[in-house]
Formats: sequence, C-alpha cells, structure tokens
Amino acid sequence: MKKLISLILLGLIAVVILFGLIQLIPYGKNHTNPPVLAEPNWDSPQTRELAKRACFDCHSNETVWPWYTNIAPVSWLAYNDTISGRKELNFSEWTSGRQKDLNELVSTIEKGEMPPFIYVIQHPQAKLSPAEKQALIDGLQKSLR
Ligand code: HEC
Repeated sequence: MKKLISLILLGLIAVVILFGLIQLIPYGKNHTNPPVLAEPNWDSPQTRELAKRACFDCHSNETVWPWYTNIAPVSWLAYNDTISGRKELNFSEWTSGRQKDLNELVSTIEKGEMPPFIYVIQHPQAKLSPAEKQALIDGLQKSLR
C-alpha cells in the first residue's frame, strides 16, 4: 500500500515538473497582433460584428489572447490556429490577395465547419444561431462581392 502511494506521488510530481518544463518552450508566446491594414467594405456594422464574434480571433489581426493562451499546451494550439487561420483568410489584410473564394467561405459557415467546434465550446459567444448564420452569410455576400 505504501509503495503504491509513493508511486502515485512520484507520478504526480513528474507531471507537475513536466508541466513546468513545457512552459519554458518559447513557441506560441508571441501575442503581438500585426496592424490592421484594410478590411472588407462591410455592408453593415452588423455583418462586421457577427464576423468579429465568430471569426476574428483566428482570421484577423485583432485576435484576443485570454490569459490561458499563455499556458502551454493551450498556447501552442491557440497560436497555431491563429497563424494558420490568418494565412487562409484575414479580414484585417483584405487587399493582400489572401481572401478566399466567397463560395468556399459561405460553405464553411453553412456546413458548420467554421468556427471550429472546439473553439465554440470555449467561446460560447462565437456560437451563431441559425438566423445569425444566415445574416452573416448574406452580409458577407454583399460585403465581399
Ligand atoms: C479557432 C480559430 C478559428 C475560428 C474562430 C475560425 N476559423 Fe476559419 N480556419 C481556421 C484555421 C486554423 C484554418 C486553416 C486550417 C483548416 O482548414 O482547418 C481555417 C480555414 C478557414 C477557411 C479556408 C477553407 C478551409 O476550410 O480550410 C475559411 C473559408 C474559413 N476558415 C472561414 C472562417 C469563417 C467564415 C469563420 C467565422 C464564421 C471562421 N473561419 C472562424 C481557424 C478558425
């Protein structure tokens, strides 16, 4: 019994040490947002507001980095999502020729692929009702055409 308890304790200590060590890895710590260069010609403030709620954390230079995005391994995931999301589509660098084909954009929203499921669990405000989804799609179609 004593042996088992010491083993469990050792295991816990190892986990704590490992958790501490991964905090030293520099990857994902740079949370400086690049400047906002140019946005789409939004058809209404409502369209921008919906996009901001559901897409901007990963597809703009206005990413909000909550405290837990400083803690590995969450920091790695948040950083990777933001960097690869911006590469695909960046509402803050609209003139840079990075914009995705409008149909593809709309279909990711219709199919519920974007915003990603895992993200919505942590960010309930990013969850769009069916009416809001439709409003965002209509608004994007007018704004990005
Ligand atoms: C949690 C971060 C995150 C959020 C929020 C998010 N995306 Fe993405 N998105 C990504 C990442 C990462 C990629 C690139 C890799 C991939 O395809 O999964 C991507 C890719 C895309 C693509 C390229 C096609 C594709 O599927 O690869 C489109 C279009 C897109 N997102 C639209 C949106 C729209 C519209 C919203 C808001 C309704 C949104 N995204 C919200 C992270 C995000």
